[in-house]
Amino acid sequence: MSQIKTELLRKDAPIGVFDSGVGGLTVVREIMRQIPNEKIIYFGDTARVPYGSKSKDTVTRFSEQIVRFLRTFQVKTIVVACNTASAYALDELEEDADIPVMGVLKPGAKAAVEATRNGRVGVIGTEATIGSGMYSKYIKELSKNVTIYGKACPLFVPLIEEGLWEDPVTDEIAGRYLAELIDIDIDTLILGCTHYPLIRSTLGRLVGGRVSLVNPAYETARELKDMLLEMDMLNDEEPKLGSNRYQFYVSDKAEKFVRFANSIIKYGILSAKTIHLEDC
Ligand code: DGL
Repeated sequence: MSQIKTELLRKDAPIGVFDSGVGGLTVVREIMRQIPNEKIIYFGDTARVPYGSKSKDTVTRFSEQIVRFLRTFQVKTIVVACNTASAYALDELEEDADIPVMGVLKPGAKAAVEATRNGRVGVIGTEATIGSGMYSKYIKELSKNVTIYGKACPLFVPLIEEGLWEDPVTDEIAGRYLAELIDIDIDTLILGCTHYPLIRSTLGRLVGGRVSLVNPAYETARELKDMLLEMDMLNDEEPKLGSNRYQFYVSDKAEKFVRFANSIIKYGILSAKTIHLEDC
């Protein structure tokens, strides 16, 4: 990692958050709840979503472009809200940055190690996230006694974006995806994709009450708060009205983004700006 230059950071500077599209709003929602004084600049790469079926090189290149864009706002830290981008690009992003860059996998892995009693942890995510093996790597670094069972669930993202959060079709597909994890007797399941917290109740019903569900979005906001506290970088003052506390940028289809955003976040998102990253 490059040297972190905290002396150049301002407490009232925004936090940059990015994702391949709308899913990262589940992370934004947790940050808004847990550290409500923080300003947020969000970028959703709606023109190039999904990342979950792309290669490491491509996702890393896209992520680096987005980080360059977010840095134009003098952000004090960057949260990679996308599980796929965290799995593929975090190492490279950390290496280049002189501000803290946080992904969602490490906080999720840590919470799973703390939650499991029988040492059998399931993780679900995109093909890229599961194929990368990064959740396993982080969990193994924390505990040698945990076995990780990964399952890619590529149909969940389109189903959730279609709004089928509580629907027999989603129940049926989730039942098929989860069957092998249930057979293996996992006691902890990591919801390793930005979208999955939105179908938490379906997943919880299928795996049963004895399985702890780990939401990396929640855990990331918690770790972010701890990190900012430790660095003495939490914004102590509530941003003034009209100070653009939350700003949303996308690479395509801003209106569709705003509609979805308002179904997730109660804050009332009025607009999002479309930005062409190639011009940045
Ligand atoms: N945001 C992605 C993730 O958390 C899911 C959507 C995509 O494939 O881009 O992995």
